[in-house]
Amino acid sequence: IAPAFQRRAQSWVDVGGVDDLPIGKPAQLDYKQTVKEGWRTTAVHKGVWAVKRQDGQVTVFSPICTHLGCGFNWDGADRNFKCPCHGSVFAMDGAVLGGPAPRPLDELPSKVENGRLLVMY
Ligand code: FES
Repeated sequence: IAPAFQRRAQSWVDVGGVDDLPIGKPAQLDYKQTVKEGWRTTAVHKGVWAVKRQDGQVTVFSPICTHLGCGFNWDGADRNFKCPCHGSVFAMDGAVLGGPAPRPLDELPSKVENGRLLVMY
């Protein structure tokens, strides 16, 4: 069964202030959103990964490992993303460094408006 966030229509979602993001260190942006699906109201919790570069550009990655869909973590010591499920490792730019992941991390469309980071998903 596909998770709720894969079924609903996509839209721009405000995930936070872009000035609050650290430079050169991925930040996981958690938030809660209420989605109406017919008679049901679902609280959806997502944590996209935002990476802000020195030049201020921000890249946003889906928090879902491209292997089999687990959530992955940032390893600050090794400076890469690690998936706890089967050991995939990704660089800060999303490239696969190791493990069974078949492709880089999925980048989500994003833009900055009035200092807010908006993500399409
Ligand atoms: Fe991440 Fe398998 S789901 S390595």
